[in-house]
Amino acid sequence: MIILGIETTCDETAAAVVTRSDEAIGRILSNVVLSQIAEHAEYGGVVPEIAARAHVEALDHVIAAAMAEAECSFAALDGVAAAAGPGLIGGVIVGLTTAKAIALTHAKPLIAVNHLEAHALTARLTDATPFPYCLFLASGGHTQILAVRGVGDYVRLGGTVDDAIGEAFDKTAKLLGLGYPGGPLVEKEAARGDAARFALPRPMSGRRDADFSLSGLKTALRLEAQKIAPLSDQDVADLCAAFQQAVVDVVMDRLRAGLRMFRDQVGAPNALVCAGGVAANQALRKVLHRVATEAGTQLVAPPPALCTDVAPRARWPLDQVAKGAAA
Ligand code: KG4
Ligand code: ZN
Repeated sequence: MIILGIETTCDETAAAVVTRSDEAIGRILSNVVLSQIAEHAEYGGVVPEIAARAHVEALDHVIAAAMAEAECSFAALDGVAAAAGPGLIGGVIVGLTTAKAIALTHAKPLIAVNHLEAHALTARLTDATPFPYCLFLASGGHTQILAVRGVGDYVRLGGTVDDAIGEAFDKTAKLLGLGYPGGPLVEKEAARGDAARFALPRPMSGRRDADFSLSGLKTALRLEAQKIAPLSDQDVADLCAAFQQAVVDVVMDRLRAGLRMFRDQVGAPNALVCAGGVAANQALRKVLHRVATEAGTQLVAPPPALCTDVAPRARWPLDQVAKGAAA
């Protein structure tokens, strides 16, 4: 089965051609990603209106490039898939209506994909992970622990009551003047910082449920930063290290609780699967490994580039995409 997939929910325009048979590992024949980071950087975050317009300008070129790279014709497709939300509505409309037009023109089925479900099922494509498994989804917009029992069969075990983890990373980066997107920048600073210098809270730790709360942690960090302002480079690195360590500790505690709930409600998980941009964080991956082993299961961590909304994170300049389209 060959599917063209389209992703326009946030700040990257992406199209991929993927093939998979039955329960086997899928093959990504092409995966073209046009990043809009440069367009949004000066605003310190994604501007929905700019994102939607950038998708309109780029999407047909990105699709043409993906089809050319996969050496696939529209006639050879078995279906056209598009992320149909949740996401920034302007972008979602661009991707979904384009997918509808291609599906209609070539008489192919349209597959409207739930954005979160796509994250939940990525491990099926990359690792053919059998159901049921425990999913830890941590992106810029979502933080959830789910029991994935089958396609369309999910039990929400926990989630954030306020900020998503990626959002907390992004807000921390903004507060410390690091830029956007914040996660990778905070991780880089944290690597040369002293996590023990600031005593930040571990919100929700020790609770029986598997919920998260991150806005208090962010506020605690802001108060610490204000106390010592103006910040030196070392202060910034130490604050990043302290913040990242607090997140890592919280994730460890909350996932242990989530895996206990999984056992009670579903049985033994076949894997702990991580997904979402935050799962690219190396410090976090280490504890995910530990938690999975403790729970008698394995960690399935799709390559960092496939944990995010789109992959791989190659930066395609528009002229190159246009060239790909002409090929
Ligand atoms: O899944 P994703 O690409 O997009 C959605 O939000 O749906 O995730 C992006 C989020 C951003 O908040 C970004 O700062 C965060 O993932 N992120 C990271 C890292 N890389 C990306 N957070 C922490 N450490 C990282 N290395
Ligand atoms: Zn996502």
